[in-house]
Amino acid sequence: MKIAVLPGDGIGPEIVAQAVKVLKALDIPMQLEEAPIGGAGYEAAGDPLPAATLKLAKESDAVLLGAVGDWKYDSLPRDQRPERGLLRIRKELNLFANLRPALLYPELASASTLKPEVVSGLDLMIVRELTGDIYFGQPRGISTLENGEREGINTMRYNESEIRRIGRVAFDIAMKRNKKVCSVDKANVLETTELWRQVMIELAKEYPEVELSHMYVDNAAMQLVRAPKQFDVMVTGNIFGDILSDEASMLTGSIGMLPSASLDANNKGMYEPSHGSAPDIAGKDVANPLATILSAAMMLRYTFNDEVNATRIENAVKKALAEGYRTADIHTEGCKKVKCSEMGDAVVAAL
Ligand code: IPM
Ligand code: MG
Repeated sequence: MKIAVLPGDGIGPEIVAQAVKVLKALDIPMQLEEAPIGGAGYEAAGDPLPAATLKLAKESDAVLLGAVGDWKYDSLPRDQRPERGLLRIRKELNLFANLRPALLYPELASASTLKPEVVSGLDLMIVRELTGDIYFGQPRGISTLENGEREGINTMRYNESEIRRIGRVAFDIAMKRNKKVCSVDKANVLETTELWRQVMIELAKEYPEVELSHMYVDNAAMQLVRAPKQFDVMVTGNIFGDILSDEASMLTGSIGMLPSASLDANNKGMYEPSHGSAPDIAGKDVANPLATILSAAMMLRYTFNDEVNATRIENAVKKALAEGYRTADIHTEGCKKVKCSEMGDAVVAAL
């Protein structure tokens, strides 16, 4: 198992260190190699995705990533900003399928801003398309019109093969779960997503056991906080998935709990927490490392087919929570408030 470790910016290095600690505690043979990305890549090589980092990622079986971004890079030319490095590595590795499971651990029911009865038992899988849509569509940019006014352009576009391959991922996952797929679009306004809906309907014919439903994205945003347990697998495009997965993370108590896997057609993957780099709390050892630790579990499951050790990590996280360990973001009365590194230690001890 060759794993590229890309800590990135902000809290990235702290949370990745905890996931690495947990992986090493498993005592299975693996080769870990670190490289800079995002702002760290810019500092090291003047590029948010240095050539050496991309090479390492391509040569590895999997990538474990922290987070990228810091306000101090906001004034750089767009191509050199940290987020561009992340988007480029997703595109270069063809990681079109982003899986973001929103799972509520019973111990955290009271940490959610929603009523415990609304979220308890929640187990939702968001399947977000990751290499297309308005994130990558051309034309794009900011230009100056003839009258001197500036105009910003982005283009939402999907071709049917892109829609079909992400749809397949969602249907295949649903077959292993509760056999329900909800496809989220804005087909009442946007042609791109009208096509999205048509392709999903065509694809559903190959999966007669799966129940396919459709929802407009505005309604989906509402339903996620009204009655989130109605969903099993949700499949959607890049931009809607970005927004809805942040929303869904709060159902689980904190965005610090949501892992993710980004997979190519051969299950090579990049694994990262769904949250950002949180520069405001960087270096303070207070971030929640569980989303990254759970991302490492997803790596074992999806890329290395090691269900046993993936489950071991997940059970260790459950045990640490059951024992009352909480980082600041999920802390409630009566629990043990711990630092990022202490949470990593608690998970290792539970392992
Ligand atoms: C995410 C993040 C990224 C995205 C940013 C950092 C570019 O929000 O992984 O959800 O928009 O995809
Ligand atoms: Mg996001």
